Amino acid sequence: MSTDTQIQNVAVSLTVNGEEITGEVEPRTLLVDFIRDVADLTGTHVGCDSTNCGACTVHVDGVSVKSCTMFAVQAEGREIRTVEGLTDGDGLCDLQEAFHDHHGLQCGYCTPGMLMSASYLLDHNPTPTRDEIKNGMSGNLCRCTGYRFIVDAVEATAAKRAEAQEDGQ
Ligand code: FES
Ligand code: FES
Repeated sequence: MSTDTQIQNVAVSLTVNGEEITGEVEPRTLLVDFIRDVADLTGTHVGCDSTNCGACTVHVDGVSVKSCTMFAVQAEGREIRTVEGLTDGDGLCDLQEAFHDHHGLQCGYCTPGMLMSASYLLDHNPTPTRDEIKNGMSGNLCRCTGYRFIVDAVEATAAKRAEAQEDGQ
């Protein structure tokens, strides 16, 4: 029996930050690799090989997902949002500004995933407690520093949004 099995590429089409992207990939291609190599969006990172770090976090149909845990073919037809899609164009969104202002980031490796988890958290719980923020961010690891400033940044974003809502903005 021949062991010379040819793997056939498959066509995958999905929407990334509002743009339809189609690529021919091996069936085993992970969503994170599709995002980086086919969609050419390199803000989403691979930081581990054990689904632990959260550096690859994106939103799939509005749900926060570690994109290293999903095959690209499983994302066929779905809406993907990556860190590049947090803003419409130039400049930073309020959450990114808060990370900047509160020193909630150090490296570019973990930060995109942190931002995507924080964004998901605030979409679903606009006024989280510090414990809820810690819980919501528990799938994202920083290997070099603490999490206090990150929690500060998420908390500040929530406060600013609540204030804006009260002011009717
Ligand atoms: S690369 Fe996905 S969890 Fe680490
Ligand atoms: S700041 Fe990115 S791993 Fe620590």
